[in-house]
Amino acid sequence: MDAEHMGADLENILFTEEQIQQRLAELAQEVWADYEGEHDKLLLVGVLKGAVLVMADFMRALPGSAPVDFLAVSSYGSGTKSSGVVRILKDLDTDISGRHVLIVEDIIDSGLTLNWIRTNLESRGPASVEICTLLRKPEAAKVHVETKYVGFDIPPAFVVGYGLDYDEQYRNLRVIGTLAEHVYS
Ligand code: PRP
Repeated sequence: MDAEHMGADLENILFTEEQIQQRLAELAQEVWADYEGEHDKLLLVGVLKGAVLVMADFMRALPGSAPVDFLAVSSYGSGTKSSGVVRILKDLDTDISGRHVLIVEDIIDSGLTLNWIRTNLESRGPASVEICTLLRKPEAAKVHVETKYVGFDIPPAFVVGYGLDYDEQYRNLRVIGTLAEHVYS
């Protein structure tokens, strides 16, 4: 779906497809260089569903092969807000002991989900756990999450597109933009 297909529901385009691809390509180069000599232990972990598009483009931008696995979690709490109490809906297929786990995410908002996931994965005996997120909202942070790779820091607006949804809609929007207030108010 293109931005014009959203009509007045899209307030503003924050990042175009080109800007997203460019930044992911930079992050992929940086990640590959950082794991030099350890590429055989690298495992990319995506968090469903939002991270699917980021993962698809990020993993293809890596200049070498890396296996991928996915986690699905559900956040207990009111409405669209994370509570920090997380339940695993689909666990990893992979035993991560001794592996360098790189969590690939679309967005860190309050940080509660990633904080929980990171702690959970660290308890499984991996060689390391790092996080790569396309977007981060520093002003919305409720907990500090050590995040080695960040695509873009953004203001605390409601963003959709490129995997990010509002009520399961707009994940297939090609760009990342802010949702017009009339949609959610
Ligand atoms: C989004 C995103 C993160 C989480 C971030 O997922 O993919 O996992 O919210 O929020 P937090 O930093 O406040 O915890 P969501 O729960 O919306 O599920 P989805 O990926 O299926 O859209």
